[in-house]
Amino acid sequence: MQANPVQPIPVRFDLPVLTEAQFGDDPHATFRLYRANYPVVAHHAGTCLVLRQADIEWLSKDPRLLASETGFPRMLGVTEGPLFDAFDYGMLTANGDAHRRRRAPFSRTFAARAMAGLRPVIRRSAERLIEAWRAAGHVEFVEQFASRLPAVVISDLLGLPQRDIPAFTRHVYDVTRFVTLSVQPEEISVAEDAMRHLLGYVEALLDERRRQPRGDFLSAFLAAADDAGELSPLEMLFQIIILIIAGTDTTRVAAVMQVCLLLQHREQWTEVCLDPALIPAAVAEALRYEPSAASFGRVTIEDIDLQGFMIPAGTLCTLSTMSAMRDERVYANPDVFDIHRVVPTRLHPVFGAGAHRCIGEALARIELEESLGALTAAIPQLRLETAPVIRGYTGIRRVDRMDLSWTVCF
Ligand code: HEM
Repeated sequence: MQANPVQPIPVRFDLPVLTEAQFGDDPHATFRLYRANYPVVAHHAGTCLVLRQADIEWLSKDPRLLASETGFPRMLGVTEGPLFDAFDYGMLTANGDAHRRRRAPFSRTFAARAMAGLRPVIRRSAERLIEAWRAAGHVEFVEQFASRLPAVVISDLLGLPQRDIPAFTRHVYDVTRFVTLSVQPEEISVAEDAMRHLLGYVEALLDERRRQPRGDFLSAFLAAADDAGELSPLEMLFQIIILIIAGTDTTRVAAVMQVCLLLQHREQWTEVCLDPALIPAAVAEALRYEPSAASFGRVTIEDIDLQGFMIPAGTLCTLSTMSAMRDERVYANPDVFDIHRVVPTRLHPVFGAGAHRCIGEALARIELEESLGALTAAIPQLRLETAPVIRGYTGIRRVDRMDLSWTVCF
C-alpha cells in the first residue's frame, strides 16, 4: 500500500465548470465550443479537463504531473474495497518504482516485435468469427464480432480458458463504467461487484498455475515474478486484471467505430476494400475521429500555469485526447473523417503518453487492422443498417449495437 502523493482537492480555479448535461449527445460540440477560448475547463465531479493537443503533449512530460494513484476513486467517495485496490495496486495509476516493478514483467511480451508474430493468428481468429455468420446476410456486429475478438486474443495470450470469455467480458464492461466522469452512484456498486468477481477469477487461475505450471504466459509470469520477488501477491493479481480489462473493452469499441465510420463514408470503405494498404491509416483516423478511450488521468503536485489559467497543486487532471484529436490548431477540418489525412500511426495520441503510454498499443493496432482486413476481404458489399450510439467523453467510451447486412453471393 502506498501513500497518495497528493490528496485531490475540488477544482477551485476561475474557469467554467461543466456538468454532465452540457456534454449531452454531442460531446465533440461542447469540446469545440470551450476549446476555442479555454485550454482547460473544470468539471463538476471535481477534476479539470485539458482540451488542447500541444498542452497535453507538454503536460504529459512535465514532472509536476503524476499518475493519480487512488485520487480518482477517492474523488468519487470510494476509499476501500476491490475497486479502490485496483487503483492502489495497479500499474496504470502507480508512480516511480512501483510503476516500474508492475509494468516491467509485461514489456517484452507486449513489445511491437513480439506482437507482430501474432498477426497471422489474429487474422485467422477474425476470419473464423466472420465465417460463423457470413452466410446469414446480417449480423449484430458488437456482440458477434467486436466483443469476441479482443477477448479471444487476450485469452490466447494469457492462457485463459475460452469458455470463461462470456463471464469475464461481462465483468470487464461493468468495471469500465467506473473509470469515467459520467459514472452514476448505482454503477459504482455494480462495478465493485464485478471487480470482486474478476479478483476471484484471476486468483483461482493463478493458484491453479502455481500448483500445475503450464507452458503459458501466466505460468511464466508467476515463475519470473516469484524469482524476482518484486511484486506482492496482490500486485500480481491486479496487473493481470488490468491487462484483461484494458485489453478487452477499448479494442471492442474501436473495432465497432472503425467499421461504422467507413460505412458511413462509403467511398472510403470502397477505397479500403480495393487497397488494403490503406488499412493502417483508416484505423488511425477512426481512432482520432471517434476514440474508444477518450482521456487519461494525472494529478498536479505543483501549481501549473496553462496560458494564464492556474491549475492548483492537488488537482486531478483529465487530459482529453478526445478533444485534442479534434484540435483545429493541429488538424485541418478536424470534424471531417478522412483516411487520407496524416494521423501519426506510431505515436497516436489515443494511446496516452510518457511512462504510462499504453502497453497494448501494438496489439490493439494489429487487432484493429486485421479485423478490418478480414472484413473488407470477406464482405466488401457490407451495409450499415443501424449505426451504434457512442456515449461518453472520458475514460473508455460505450457503444450499444450495430446491425450490418449484405447480399449473400454463393
Ligand atoms: C484501441 C485500443 C486501446 C486504446 C485506445 C488504449 C488506450 C490506453 C490509454 C489512453 C492508456 C493510458 C495511457 C497514459 O496514462 O498515458 C492505456 C494504458 C494501458 N493500456 Fe491500453 N489501450 C488500448 C488497448 C490496449 C490493449 C489491447 C491492452 C493489453 C492487452 C492494453 C493495456 C494497457 C495497459 C496495461 C495500460 C497501463 C500502462 C501503464 O500504466 O504503464 N491497452 N491504454
